[in-house]
Amino acid sequence: MSSRVIPVRPFDYVVFGATGDLTKRKLIPALYYRFKAGQFDLRSRIIGISRSPLDDKKMQEIARVSIQKHVDEIYHDADVIDQFVSCFSYVSNDVTNKEGWTEISEKLRDDKEVVRAFYLAVAPNLFAPICEYLKGKNYCRDDARVVLEKPLGHDLASSVQINDAVGEAFSEDQIYRIDHYLGKETVQNLLALRFANAMFEPIWNAAHIDHVQISVAESVGAGTRGYYDEAGALRDMIQNHILQLLCLVAMEPPASNKPNALRDEKLKVLRSLKPLVGDDLKKNTVRGQYRGVRAETVEVASYQDELPDNLKGSHTETFVAIKAEIENWRWSGVPFYIRTGKRLAARMSEIVIQFRKVPHSIFSKDQGRPSANKLVIRLQPDEGVKLFMMIKDPGPGGMRLREVHLNLSFADTFEDRVPEAYERLLLDVIRGDQTLFMRRDELEEAWKWIDPIRAAWDEMREAPQPYTVGTWGPTSSVALIERDGRTWHEESDY
Ligand code: BG6
Repeated sequence: MSSRVIPVRPFDYVVFGATGDLTKRKLIPALYYRFKAGQFDLRSRIIGISRSPLDDKKMQEIARVSIQKHVDEIYHDADVIDQFVSCFSYVSNDVTNKEGWTEISEKLRDDKEVVRAFYLAVAPNLFAPICEYLKGKNYCRDDARVVLEKPLGHDLASSVQINDAVGEAFSEDQIYRIDHYLGKETVQNLLALRFANAMFEPIWNAAHIDHVQISVAESVGAGTRGYYDEAGALRDMIQNHILQLLCLVAMEPPASNKPNALRDEKLKVLRSLKPLVGDDLKKNTVRGQYRGVRAETVEVASYQDELPDNLKGSHTETFVAIKAEIENWRWSGVPFYIRTGKRLAARMSEIVIQFRKVPHSIFSKDQGRPSANKLVIRLQPDEGVKLFMMIKDPGPGGMRLREVHLNLSFADTFEDRVPEAYERLLLDVIRGDQTLFMRRDELEEAWKWIDPIRAAWDEMREAPQPYTVGTWGPTSSVALIERDGRTWHEESDY
């Protein structure tokens, strides 16, 4: 089945941070894929802004190199690339220096038919000066949009500050806060799975579900981004991506898929998260930090080795596991085990819905014990959905139970490439669809749950537990779930 391409209105996309890593690795390739698919109106323009003293030609060269590096070669098409890069222009601008701003007005079209969007792919301390200036210059007319990249603060107070500053220039319905996990195909598929199939909803609750697992494992390290050591896995992954996934799994069916209907339901989940404090916090959270391996055939540095000298000894966590609980009727007593980490055994993100066992087995011990059903939603890689269930082992020899899975593999079922999250999100901004973006109250509610955890960890002044690269995290994260008589679902279970 091939996808339908619905062209969007012409736009002026102004990208602050045009020479940055995010723009090169994600934004330009995503826009290229949509351009190649024929989704652009050819009057659309992308205006790059950054401090470097470049010109339009150089920006176009940056776009070209970004495609060569980050777009799969089979999608390289010389004519299309030429056409695409000609949409780019550039303004050199130190956003803290007001003199540099005049040129933007020459690039922006004052045409109501052309959607105007400002993408802030810059450090959050620049959001306020940028928005203040945009407002001062009257660039943020009523239908203009602003896109904010994370980190949207490092705690509730800083997040409120950012939101207040942006809110001075743009109203909430003009603000698009990116959580790129919401743009992933498989994450959107959660909505279809839950709300376009009648069979799951009646059993999607504590009466039938034993527990839920959400794992986002990465095999890459934290890298040398200075930001990571300030953030750590709790702020970098749990506060946003994983809590958003948890909301989509746990929320009540919204009345429609209109942005606010969905976001209202997500907000209720965040408000129902049981605060983790005191003994609960000690028992139900695990922090880890990877340590390297040095063997004959392989050498991988530890997190500490990767840090510059002034940060050595850092207690920043590169792994987190948490047993979370949602205090409402639907989920009372159902733990949500969440974990994420860098340099783990594999790159793998998945959600596991573990159903309860049959109340009584009619089979003898020799015939096998029925394992509880399990629904595994694989977000990446090998996107798909697997339903683990019991059957009779075929053939003679009497009744023997066996666990098998129904496998809906996206790669096998659909011939199309699975689009990158940013492809959807960048054009949703132009469409004016906020469904897959975080509303201010959601963001702030998530910080309210995260802040006490962070504060308690900081107060403890304990080093995170070490784990060896290429494993599934510290042993205490295994203990976290095993002491409840449960186990993490892992690759070998396939
Ligand atoms: C980002 C985090 O938001 O998500 C990174 O800052 C992380 O640390 C990345 O590596 C993971 O995204 P994905 O799409 O590769 O799973």
